[in-house]
Amino acid sequence: MISLTAVSKTYNAGEPGCCRALHDVDLTLPDGQVTVIQGPSGSGKTTLLGLLGAMSRPTTGRIRIGDLEISGLPEPLLAGLRGERFGFLFQDFQLIESVSVLTNVLLPVYVLNHRMREATARARALLASLGVGQKAGQAVRNLSGGEKQRVALARALIRDPEFLLADEPTAHLDTALTHGFLDLLAGLKLRNKTMIVASHDPLVCDADAVDQIVYLRDGTIVGIESRASASEGAVGGRGGGTGGEWSERNGRRTAMHGGSTVPVWKGGEA
Ligand SMILES: Nc1ncnc2c1ncn2[C@@H]1O[C@H](COP(=O)(O)OP(=O)(O)OP(=O)(O)O)[C@@H](O)[C@H]1O
Ligand SMILES: [Mg+2]
Repeated sequence: MISLTAVSKTYNAGEPGCCRALHDVDLTLPDGQVTVIQGPSGSGKTTLLGLLGAMSRPTTGRIRIGDLEISGLPEPLLAGLRGERFGFLFQDFQLIESVSVLTNVLLPVYVLNHRMREATARARALLASLGVGQKAGQAVRNLSGGEKQRVALARALIRDPEFLLADEPTAHLDTALTHGFLDLLAGLKLRNKTMIVASHDPLVCDADAVDQIVYLRDGTIVGIESRASASEGAVGGRGGGTGGEWSERNGRRTAMHGGSTVPVWKGGEA
């Protein structure tokens, strides 16, 4: 569980570009749940994701992951935490345009001295599952916006993180691809992953897998809608992709989980 207590974030405090992006935020994100953060442009969604994912520090207030208070941890420990427990899908992707799709997806594991053969196989399988498998050797700069978004998602998932933070993950996806993303979320939820998604896409906000919606305005939480009971019914119903072991069978992208094989990505082929 991630919890925030009286968290505020001010950029450039006391300087000309001073901006109070978040103030007095109290929020709990239970394990294994999907939280959507909704709010108008500039309301603080990206700032909140950055704090939740230990990418930046609050100006005041406390952030805990379980019993661990992360707000005061030194940077090397925070960096370790980010790498080990979080997967990030950035609003602007933050891919390296000049290198290949496959290299981008593998970036989080290069730094680890990981077993690269296994990691490469997983990266290729993730890309295939997301419908961009045939782009693995292409430079990222040649890809469309929606393709880049899925490559960024593959990179976020390469280490099978405990927490997935996704900033406007469907902004470049059409309806079919958005449903594919939502199936993937539902599948990750079955594996008890915790997901926090900044979005104003109605398809995302109305998705069965969503447990709570946090409404932000001018840096303040103005409402929290809990949908826990609705999503319990949904786990066995709609969705069902797992984000587990990835494979491609019979020309259909599938994900393997606990012995069952279910479609994970219903969107069109890239
Ligand atoms: N690095 C920064 N330095 C100064 N101000 C910043 C910085 N990052 C964000 N802000 C400001 O903080 C406020 C919240 O920005 P944030 O990016 O969190 O909003 P958002 O809800 O994600 O918006 P959008 O929907 O457009 O992505 C905005 O007023 C923005 O201009
Ligand atoms: Mg944003």
